[in-house]
Amino acid sequence: MRLSRLHIGYILAASTLMSASAADFNGVWKLKAGGGGLQDATMVIERAGDEVRQRTIGMRGGVEQRSEFKYKTGGESINDFRGTPMKSETKLEANTIEIHSQAKTSRGEYLATEMWKLSSDGNTMVIQIHSDMAGRGNDSSAVYERAPASAAAVFDRPEQKAGAAYKNIQILKDVPVSNFIPVMRRFAGALGVECEHCHVATDFASEEKPAKATARKMLLMAGAINKDHFGGQGAVSCYTCHRGQTKPATAPPGAQ
Ligand code: HEC
Ligand code: HEC
Repeated sequence: MRLSRLHIGYILAASTLMSASAADFNGVWKLKAGGGGLQDATMVIERAGDEVRQRTIGMRGGVEQRSEFKYKTGGESINDFRGTPMKSETKLEANTIEIHSQAKTSRGEYLATEMWKLSSDGNTMVIQIHSDMAGRGNDSSAVYERAPASAAAVFDRPEQKAGAAYKNIQILKDVPVSNFIPVMRRFAGALGVECEHCHVATDFASEEKPAKATARKMLLMAGAINKDHFGGQGAVSCYTCHRGQTKPATAPPGAQ
């Protein structure tokens, strides 16, 4: 009697342990293959209850990429995607997490389907992503392998600075890379222009567009105004004068 109860208890415990480990996405993962141009990537997944937190660090063309997403299994979640809110629906089924996301970006609608598939031994995860940006489709897949917890130490490293990441930075050298493109988006938004107003689309380091040099002078000017008149704080920004125009107005509308 006792023995058989113990026996059943053992079998139950073993089977729950097995199913838990089979679907155990938690841990530190290293990119082994694929990844759509991402290199040397480390990913940490922390799943607690219905929340799945995914943090990644990797390099793309010499520029450090850090990302963090939080998903809710069996529900909806909102993350930041290139400065706009992205809505995701997440499903967990056996060894697969499926994520459907959508965001409205300045370039158009972004749609993505991600499938995270865990191998039966729980040591390999394949992430397949199909995305659509303004009607242009893209497929990528990445193979991650389980890594020791110590591999997560890269997340404690200070973030790469723009001066080290890009080729031709003269003023914004100390801006952390994750903040650099958002700064660029603010420039564009403040002036009501696209990136190409200041940049050659195929070579962002190029000095060909005169507006780029003007923007540097403006950065120094705005910095000086803030330092000399506002105690160094960012009281005056590009937008303070530009208000979505390349040439700031000098008089209110309708004034002569
Ligand atoms: C108003 C002009 C302006 C706009 C608009 C602008 N940028 Fe820039 N960008 C600059 C300036 C100025 C620099 C150099 C900064 C420095 O020297 O510190 C730069 C540098 C860069 C670099 C570094 C290139 C390298 O290798 O040195 C990248 C990448 C970049 N911009 C991307 C963008 C993107 C993407 C957009 C659109 C979202 C954008 N920029 C919009 C002015 C602009
Ligand atoms: C104190 C007001 C002021 C601030 C702050 C300011 N600008 Fe300007 N900016 C101007 C004025 C005025 C002009 C137009 C000059 C002229 O008439 O040619 C101008 C012109 C420009 C131009 C050239 C426009 C073109 O046609 O290409 C660029 C680029 C520019 N600013 C970028 C910036 C950026 C980037 C910032 C923030 C770092 C900034 N400005 C902040 C006043 C300002």
